[in-house]
This record gives sequence, C-alpha cells and structure tokens, in this order.
Amino acid sequence: MLRALAPLALLVVLFALLAPAASALQYPNTTFNYTTEFNEAITHLWDRLLFWATVVFVIVQVGILYIIFKFKARPDSPEPKHVHGNTTLEILWTAIPAVILAFIAVPTVKTIFMTQAKAPANALQVEVIGHQWWWEFRYPEYGITTANELYLPVGRTVNFKLNTVDVLHSFWIPRLGGKRDLISNRTNYLWMTPRDSMALKALNGSCTEYCGASHANMKFRVFTVTPAQFASWAAHQKGNAVFGVAPTPAPATLPAAPAAESTSKAGQVGPALADAAAPAPVGFVFPREQIDPSTLPTATPPASISFPAGLTGDPTRGQQIYSRSSCIGCHKISGNPMSAGIIGPNLTHYGSRYTLASAQYANTTENLVRWIKNAPAMKPGSLMPAIGTGEYNPAIKAKVTMGGLNDQQIADVAAYLQALK
Ligand code: CUA
Repeated sequence: MLRALAPLALLVVLFALLAPAASALQYPNTTFNYTTEFNEAITHLWDRLLFWATVVFVIVQVGILYIIFKFKARPDSPEPKHVHGNTTLEILWTAIPAVILAFIAVPTVKTIFMTQAKAPANALQVEVIGHQWWWEFRYPEYGITTANELYLPVGRTVNFKLNTVDVLHSFWIPRLGGKRDLISNRTNYLWMTPRDSMALKALNGSCTEYCGASHANMKFRVFTVTPAQFASWAAHQKGNAVFGVAPTPAPATLPAAPAAESTSKAGQVGPALADAAAPAPVGFVFPREQIDPSTLPTATPPASISFPAGLTGDPTRGQQIYSRSSCIGCHKISGNPMSAGIIGPNLTHYGSRYTLASAQYANTTENLVRWIKNAPAMKPGSLMPAIGTGEYNPAIKAKVTMGGLNDQQIADVAAYLQALK
C-alpha cells in the first residue's frame, strides 16, 4: 500500500514545487502574462491545454489507482475472466480522445492563424537584422539604426521584419511574445502591441536558435516607453550624435542639467565632458532607476585583459584616433564622415546605451576599454578583432602588432564613444 502511494506523494511534491510558477510576475522572463495580445493569446491557449491535460491526468490516475486496488491479485483469487474485445469500450476510448483533441486543436489552430496574420497597416515597422552575434534594429519610419537596444512605444503595434545576414537566429522577447526565426533568404514577420501597463519597463531579449560560438551571448534589451518618450528618443536618435570638443572641465563648473536631461543619462562612467559637451537637450533615454536589476548585464571581462586603473581618455583625441583607425571600416557614426562602415553595429548614439557587446556587459568605461582592447576574449568568435597592441587575437592566432592601439589611445577612443550621446 505504502509503495503504491509513493508515486502519488512524489506528484504532490512536484506540484508544490511548480506552484510558484503560477505567480508568474515574480519572474523577469516569464512568458505567462498579458503584456501584449500575442502573449495573451498564447497564455490563454496554454491555460486551456493545461486544463484539459490536467483533467485527463486526474481521470487516468484515479482509474489506475482504482484498478490497482480493486483487481489486486489475492492468494485465493480465481483465474480472471478472459475477454475478447468489447465494442462499446473500443468506441469510447477512440471517441473520447478525439473529442479532447478537438478541444485542443480548434483553439491551437485559431491562435496560429492569429499570430501569423499580417500586422495592422499603421504598425510601427522595425527591421530586425541578425548578425553573428549581435542585433541590428532599424526604424525606417524614423531613419534610425541602432544596435542591441530596442525602444518600443506602448499602445502601438510593432511589426518586426526579421532577416539575417549570416546564419539562422531567433528573435525572442519573453515578456512580450514570440519567438520567431530569422532565416536566410526569407523575411519573417512578428507583431504585437505592448499594453499601456508595460510603460517604462526594461525587458530581456535573446537569440533562441543556436547560431555559433557566441549564441548564448547574443542578447538584447527592450525598453517599452510612453508614446511621448518614444517620440523624444526617436527625434534625438535620428540626428547626429551630440559631441562637443571642449576640453574636460571640472565637474563642479558644469551648468545645471535641465530636469529632463537629469534622468536621461545612460549611467555611464565616462568623462565628465560627455555631459558638459551636450549643448542641445538630450533626447529621452530610459531612466536607469526604472531598470529592473534582472535586465542589467552583470558579466565581467576576463582578468586576462588588463587595463591601468584610473587612466582617463580625451574624447577629442579619441575622435582623431578612431577616425584614422580600422574602426571606421566596420562602424558608422552619423556626424563623423570618416566613419561609414556598415558591417558592425552603428555607434552613432553609443553613449546613450546601457550595454555593450550584444547586451552582454554593462556599458561602463571599464568594460568598454577592455572590449576595444580584446573583443574576442570577451565574446568568443567576435568578428571585432583585438585592437590592443600586444593582445593575443584568437582570430589570427597571433598577438596584435601592426595598427594596434596602446592603452592611452584605447582610453581616448572609449571616451569619444561614450561622449556620443
Ligand atoms: Cu543568434 Cu543564436
């Protein structure tokens, strides 16, 4: 008797462990919520499948237990009666599963049609381009190209146009809905409408299709904002980076930042000049204090990449070094005519981003200088080579000598990039 009850006890324990999953919102990457019509449809479907699966499970388990005890072999039991077919039973056990499957199939097919339908015509178009291993986001309506950080207005349907320049990737923002593959020579679409309740949320996104060495590092951030905040952000992102050339002033002499600006800094730890050199009001940037800590990258660069502590860079010098280095072959910075590369992430407003290296690291000076110095050591397989003189570059299986930058030059380039607000 006790032995027969053991599996039952195990199931009870299992359910007790799984129960917290029901209070889904504690989990930063939960998909079971009602943040968009897409996720709502999926969640409803899931609830329905779970309901029918539970009904079947309970009936089957009760039946098994009943039969186990009722027809248990006893020492004086007579030989069981032999049966040869039972038409009623056979019809029943064919018909009941068919009816249950119909209950599952109808809503499933309905949800497939709904989530594969064409987006509404007035949707915000966002082109998502997968690269090994980072995300390019383009807003054709606004003339914006950015990387790894996506701003979405609540209340407006966003229609993602999914393409890849290399291998297969898969685009997924768990809290909003998805996922859908980025396929070579084919365009996929995915659309959803973030609800108003999602205003001012920072969400995780990731690649969910194995795509090579740094698949697991191919992340991105999504910031859902109000339509007004989105308009402010978009208007600024559309323009050239705001970058002044004044020498680094003492922070105490800085003019007081406008109120709107004080919440708009990307929490960077770059030179004070980055703040002082912005004559125009900086467009909306997602406020740091609103960011759920679970969406802030915590990875740290390997200790093998050393960098002198306290070495500060000069943005103006950094601009000159950057503009005559190999950086410009891959990266574009609107406003810097030398920098027109397109195969790497667009860096126009790099200083307004929270993350670097496909949202794997926080965008801090400490991380950025090490990234410039030896990117492949921070993101295995990175197409960005090691730039630091004397650094081992796994891509060419050699140390960087020709064209490498020393630590001071790297600090200068980092200061330049972080000044690009
Ligand atoms: Cu891209 Cu996995």
